[in-house]
Amino acid sequence: LSELTPNEAVLLVDARGRRHLVRLRPGGSFHSHSGIVEHDRLIGRPDGVVVRSTGGARYVALRPTLAEFVLEMPRGAQIIYPKDLGAILMLADVYPGARVFEAGVGSGALSLAMLRAGAEVVGYELRPEFAAVATANVAAMGLEQRYRVEGRDAYLGIEERSLDRVVLDLPEPWRMVSHAEQALRAGGVLVAYLPTINQTAELRQALSVSSFGLAETVEVLERHWHVEGRSVRPDHRMVAHTGFLTSARLLEKER
Ligand SMILES: C[S@@+](CC[C@H](N)C(=O)[O-])C[C@H]1O[C@@H](n2cnc3c(N)ncnc32)[C@H](O)[C@@H]1O
Repeated sequence: LSELTPNEAVLLVDARGRRHLVRLRPGGSFHSHSGIVEHDRLIGRPDGVVVRSTGGARYVALRPTLAEFVLEMPRGAQIIYPKDLGAILMLADVYPGARVFEAGVGSGALSLAMLRAGAEVVGYELRPEFAAVATANVAAMGLEQRYRVEGRDAYLGIEERSLDRVVLDLPEPWRMVSHAEQALRAGGVLVAYLPTINQTAELRQALSVSSFGLAETVEVLERHWHVEGRSVRPDHRMVAHTGFLTSARLLEKER
């Protein structure tokens, strides 16, 4: 669908590239220091339409990509950034119909990426206020049909069985290794995102004495470039560190 519709999330990008995420509502309006944009001037118009506010400021209205939505959406907990989300989809080999367990759910950025890739996601999240943020973010992208979040402590166990994937973003994933052994089908994949290498080493140790094999750890470095006329060079600043990604496969126990 190329026209913007009521209730969808739309990104308004101003002349300086600043982004504002708005949910389109009939009769609604977006207010900024440079005046007002009525939502009714966007509803029914093509994705990418250019409008002016009552104060004359120029805005491009775009349906956000998943990466844009994740960066602008409301947050409870810190999110996983798009560069890592893309890598996690490959490492966890998330496919349409895959049954994925996720913990903790946080703001739902990782949930959104996996749902978009076609997975069925069951998430455990300790904090109800974060679970509510994640659920609302997933609904704003229209992906709630294949999503369920439970307010539970994942360290106490995973109730689901025959899962295809277990994807973790919580502080002590080594406490999840035996739970994942129970809950995953043979050949299933576990992926964990961790901010520090000490935590990663502790996870790798736990995996090394488990039924998981083929363990790997990677980090993703992304360098943006400044491209303007004859000045073409890497940006001066870059995000030097986000997290380490560890993956492993559940193998059959040797008899
Ligand atoms: C960094 S956030 C996850 C962010 C999420 N991956 C995203 O991209 O939006 C970590 C979450 O794990 C939750 N958490 C921590 N320990 C947990 C546990 N034992 N069981 C369930 N959730 C837990 C926290 O409440 C927090 O919301």
